This record gives sequence, structure tokens and C-alpha cells, in this order.
Amino acid sequence: MTKANDVPVFTPRRMTVIGCGYLGAVHAAAMATLGHDVVGFDLDASKVELLSTGRTPFYEPGLDDLLSEALATGRLRFTTSYAEAAEFADVFFLCVGTPQKKDSNAADMTYVNGAIDTLAPLLTRPALVVGKSTVPVGTAEALRDRLVALSPAGVDVRLAWNPEFLREGFAVKDTLSPDRVVVGVDDPADADELAALYAPVLELGMPWVVVDLATAQLVKNAANAFLATKISFINAMAELCEATGADVVALADAIGHDARIGRRFLHAGLGFGGGCLPKDLRGFMARAEELGVDQALAFLSEVDDINKRRRLRAVEVTTDLLDGDVSGKRVAVLGAAFKPDSDDIRDSPALDVATLLHDLGAEVRVHDPKAMDKARETRPELTYIDDPVEACRDADVVLHLTEWAVFRELDPVKLGEVVKHKRILEGRNTLDSGAYVRAGWDFRALGRPIIKG
Ligand code: UDX
Repeated sequence: MTKANDVPVFTPRRMTVIGCGYLGAVHAAAMATLGHDVVGFDLDASKVELLSTGRTPFYEPGLDDLLSEALATGRLRFTTSYAEAAEFADVFFLCVGTPQKKDSNAADMTYVNGAIDTLAPLLTRPALVVGKSTVPVGTAEALRDRLVALSPAGVDVRLAWNPEFLREGFAVKDTLSPDRVVVGVDDPADADELAALYAPVLELGMPWVVVDLATAQLVKNAANAFLATKISFINAMAELCEATGADVVALADAIGHDARIGRRFLHAGLGFGGGCLPKDLRGFMARAEELGVDQALAFLSEVDDINKRRRLRAVEVTTDLLDGDVSGKRVAVLGAAFKPDSDDIRDSPALDVATLLHDLGAEVRVHDPKAMDKARETRPELTYIDDPVEACRDADVVLHLTEWAVFRELDPVKLGEVVKHKRILEGRNTLDSGAYVRAGWDFRALGRPIIKG
């Protein structure tokens, strides 16, 4: 059944979200907000306990409120019981992680395979299993066959793929009003079922894209690869700017005016990190190799290398600012999270730079508004300071490595009074360089001309 404007009539469902990490926790809360009855499943009892009280194990603006409101409706609960999760629902969203394998670039499918193998034998009536995890292209068909083979309900258990494009820091908005909803299905009836389930989102006018299973998986791989390529492109231009005295910010503004290019994702600096872009890029290349088309994605290896070089360049410029010797120098690092409005430190460029400088003998003092607890766990060798100005006290050099708004609000004049030397490396190109220079700082920015205070 569809409404006059072709948006299907909303059909509330009983659904289970398997895996309540970043993706799953947001998805479960969002689905309950839309009006579905949702059980969030996770093997981790402490996570389930935390989520059940409306709290999340990570920082994501707006998520605690969304979660609490969803719990208050009575339409959301969490469990560690597979049997309960299977019994409750007839739609199952797979949101488990696919980290990079320890010994290769490939994505580790252990959790996805494990979820299918455990869930399938419990499916005794028709069900729609919807993959949301980022997985290598071409894996859906085998997962579908496994699901059908292991389920008592057999062919009445269907598999669809519905990739997720949410950005950390914007996860709630990206889930409730995404740029597009993509579904990969074997049978158009499965797409109709999903459209009815997503009706409140589609009513906002979001493009609804129905494709086959392989294309749906490839959409996610391709989107992340393109975004990473765009960032590395501008960072490669930054290398040219550094060699010629040109300004990468002015360059990005100028080329970004071309609507075919666009200004978004052309922010040059320390490059990309996080739990998605780096590992998805590598997983995509590994998959291309398995498929015998590695040449098609050979350029992504360069995208990865350009990205890694930015971190080394930051160390180089810092060393330069310290007159060639890092050892024994006090370095203030502003930022530990891989990006602002997140406490995620996975593959964080900021923490990598901090560690490299520590390993070279610097006394590194880090401040981050949200990510210090997580950073302390993995990088206990660094010193963490609760206040950004205190982190800069007596510093020989200040490094701005994650572009939190609070760092933009620091007063360069007052900051100049606490440091030992007014020298700053701008790794994200968001600070007011003019204000720093007027306050007498030596200001070095990645990809921008050298300005001496
Ligand atoms: C990304 C994708 O954007 C999202 O669609 C996908 O679902 C998951 O991966 P996320 O990892 O949350 O999301 O962060 P994103 O905002 O894409 O930034 C990734 C990294 O690129 C960050 O380290 C960020 O600092 C960096 N970045 C981003 C740049 O260096 N320059 C830019 O212009 C944009």
C-alpha cells in the first residue's frame, strides 16, 4: 500500500538490532523513535546494562537523549539473549563490527558470520534479515545461502542489505534524516517491506534507492573510498603547496567553487582516521585482490600512503619549529579524538603524531574535551591535562591536531602568556591564523605558507 506521494504507509514492526556498538545503538534508538518495537542485542553484558539505563559507552551528541526518550516510550529494550532476540522479532538488523584483520588489510567477518550462524537456527518463522555492517562486496549471497540452509524456516528467511552512511558526531541526524536510503534485495517485495518500515524517513523526501545485494554492498565501499580519495587529493595538493609556497586553503576554496568538484571533504590537514575510512579503504583493496581486480583499486594504496604521510609531515614541521631537536622539549597537543564531537580514538591522526613525538623524546601533554579517558587506556605513556590552557603551560610548541570548537575559542594573546615559546603547528586549518600572527606566534600550518610572528 502506498500513499498518494508514493511513500508507503508506515508499518510498525517488531525488530531486533544485533550488535549495539556505534551503529547498532544509534539504529536501535532511532527505530524505536520512528515507532517500531525494538530489542537491541549485544553479547557484552556491561554494554547492555549501560544502554538499558539510557547511557552510551561512547560520546555522540544527542544520542543519550534519543536513547532515553526511546526507552521511555517502552518500545526499546536491550538483551544479551539470542533466544529472546530471535523469538521477539521478524526483522533483524545486523550491525556487528567488521574490524581490519590483525594480520592483513582484509575485513574480519568473524562477527558477521557468527551472528548469522547463531541466529539462523533460531528462526522458526518468516523473517527479514537486513545487513547494515560494512562488509566486502559480494559476501551477501553466501550469507543468504548460509541463512537459508541453517534456518528451520528455510527460504522464508530472506536477506537484504541496507548500508549505513552515518558520520560520528552527526549519527542521530544521519540516521533519522540520511542523504539517501539504499537497499539491496533479491526480491522487490523485500524492498517494499523495508520502505514501509522506513516510511517516516522517506516522508522527509529522502531518495530511496533499490538495487541488488552486491551493488548495495559496493555502494558503501565506493562511497567511503571516494571520500578518502577526496581528502587525500587535497592533502597531496598540500604537499605541492608546501613545496611551492602556495596556499592549500585558498586552492580548495577556488576549485571547490566548481559544482562538479564541490568544497566539502576538501579540508586539508592531518588527514583521515577513525574506525571507518582507513580500514574500509584497506578492506576494499583486499577484496579487489581476492576478486582478481586489484589493479582497479591500486590507486587507493596511494590514497592511504598520502594520508599516512601527513602524520609524518606534522612531526617534521614540529621538529622544524623546535629548531631540529624534539628531545626533552615540552609539546602541547590539542586534540586526541580522530575528529571533533567524538571520543573515538581509533586510528586517530592526532594521537599518532603525539606518540611519534613522545617516542622521539618529547614531553607530550595532551588535552581533548572528550577523548582523554580512551586515549589514556591505549596510550598511557602520554601525559593528559584536563584543561587546554594548562596543557599549553611552558610548552615549547603547541600542536592543534583535532578541530574542536573550544580550541578555536582560545585567545592567542592569553595562550601566548602561558607558553614558553609562541610556536604553533596548525594541523587542521581551522584556527584564525591572523589572530595568532598578530599575537606574535610563529604559525605553521600544513599546506599553507610559513608565517613568522
Ligand atoms: C565516515 C563517512 O563519512 C561515513 O559516511 C561512513 O558511514 C563512516 O565513515 P566518520 O568516520 O564518522 O564517517 O567521519 P568523517 O566525518 O567522514 O571523517 C573521517 C576523517 O576524515 C576524520 O578523521 C576527519 O577529520 C577527516 N577529514 C574529513 C579530513 O581530513 N578532511 C575532510 O575534508 C573531511
